[in-house]
Amino acid sequence: MAEHIEVLLSEEEVDARIQEIGDMISKDYAGKEVHLICVLKGGSFFMCELAKRITVPVSLDFMSVSSYGADTKSSGVVKIVKDLDESLTGKHVLVVEDIVDSGRTLSHLLKMLKDRGPADVRLCTLLDKPDRRVVDVKVDYTGFQIPDEFVVGYGLDYDQKYRNLPYIGVVKFD
Ligand code: IMP
Ligand code: MG
Repeated sequence: MAEHIEVLLSEEEVDARIQEIGDMISKDYAGKEVHLICVLKGGSFFMCELAKRITVPVSLDFMSVSSYGADTKSSGVVKIVKDLDESLTGKHVLVVEDIVDSGRTLSHLLKMLKDRGPADVRLCTLLDKPDRRVVDVKVDYTGFQIPDEFVVGYGLDYDQKYRNLPYIGVVKFD
């Protein structure tokens, strides 16, 4: 099926908002180091742009998770496909995500990370679809709240395509 993309948030809007979030994080973590955790692959573009705008010391790590399948999806159980390289003990952890949708993946992931002895764990997401939430997740930094539409760009994909778009677009089927 053919599709086209309609711009929802322009590159300028996204860049400006990331700068604002970077400023907030730099202020909130003053005097501390922040350990950013990117959830692959979607969070990668946002994390790089955000990290460049944070002025306190930053370290980075990456993880990749996948759902266990249809049956366990409702329980929010996720499988670690690629685990972190570093320990989280005593660190100020900030999870950087592309989008919070149902909240299932993140709710489980945050629990797992909190069990690894960090000083604290916060969550930063570029996009939030609050209408779709099934599991309550506390989001500390949100780029944009968006309506319940399927979006791509800035790391988000449709069938592995469009991650490289420098803006956020809505997929429309022709
Ligand atoms: P959930 O919050 O556990 O439902 O899962 C969120 C994940 O679903 C995100 O990290 C994305 O990978 C994917 N996702 C949710 N909504 C969209 C969308 O609009 N476009 C692309 N991926 C999405
Ligand atoms: Mg994701």
